[in-house]
Amino acid sequence: MDLEDSVAAGEKETARKNVIHALKEVDFGNKTVAVRINGLYSHHMYKDVVEIIEQAGERCDVFIVPMVGTDKDVYMADALVSQVETAVGRKKKLGFGLIIEATMGMMNIHAIAGASKRNESLHFGVADYAASTKSRTTNIGGPNRYYGVLTDQDGDKPRDFFWGDPWHYAMSRIVVAARANGLRPVDGPFGDIADPDGYKAQCFRGAALGMEGKWAIHPSQVAIANEVFSPGEAEVTQAKRVLEAMETAQREGLGAVSLDGKLVDIASIKQADAIVKKAEAIAA
Ligand code: GLV
Ligand code: MG
Repeated sequence: MDLEDSVAAGEKETARKNVIHALKEVDFGNKTVAVRINGLYSHHMYKDVVEIIEQAGERCDVFIVPMVGTDKDVYMADALVSQVETAVGRKKKLGFGLIIEATMGMMNIHAIAGASKRNESLHFGVADYAASTKSRTTNIGGPNRYYGVLTDQDGDKPRDFFWGDPWHYAMSRIVVAARANGLRPVDGPFGDIADPDGYKAQCFRGAALGMEGKWAIHPSQVAIANEVFSPGEAEVTQAKRVLEAMETAQREGLGAVSLDGKLVDIASIKQADAIVKKAEAIAA
């Protein structure tokens, strides 16, 4: 649930009341429930923290903190949450999902990722990031037809234009900082809700880089994200074959063998293990 940028300035109090009501009344089952609070830049932030923790019981698991710029922002949010948690005697510690969406946050990402024991995930806020870098786009996520390369002239052959991915660097940096600190990297929004194929391609791209999920900003995107980010049967079967091949190899004292004509080695065990473990965790 969101209290930040999908809520108009004049609706902040009402939105907070609605969120508190939902946290108390809606049965969210065993799902992790996250609320995006307002950022430290906003005077609404302290009330979001105080009123949700004071009034909504323990059902909120995670605060999504937008616009994190430095590790000190995380410290401040942590200190405030800790005070209110202690005051109300909350038993379950609230976690943090931090949105990396400004150049400051991208620059300080490693310190941010390690700044609090509450940290669980880093999220790519592509829309604000584009604004912060003054990138020439008004889309939320997605490709940009101007970001690409035109091949050199090669005789009379027609020249090709290859689209690049303008978000690659930012996403990779988030994946590295998150994984190095034991956090989950999560790709952000894709605004073209009428383009499920485009959204799906973006999900696959994120998954290939190591992202653990992607925001769904419309109900129609939820099933697509769940499908793509859950390893498919073929992928799990292949991962299990790699593990079996490496078990045999290691029994024979080998560090590397060939499977289907391709090299697999000790690093392949870790790759395959990550896929099998993820599938098991989803099934559990
Ligand atoms: C999300 O908050 C974004 O800015 O993309
Ligand atoms: Mg944002």
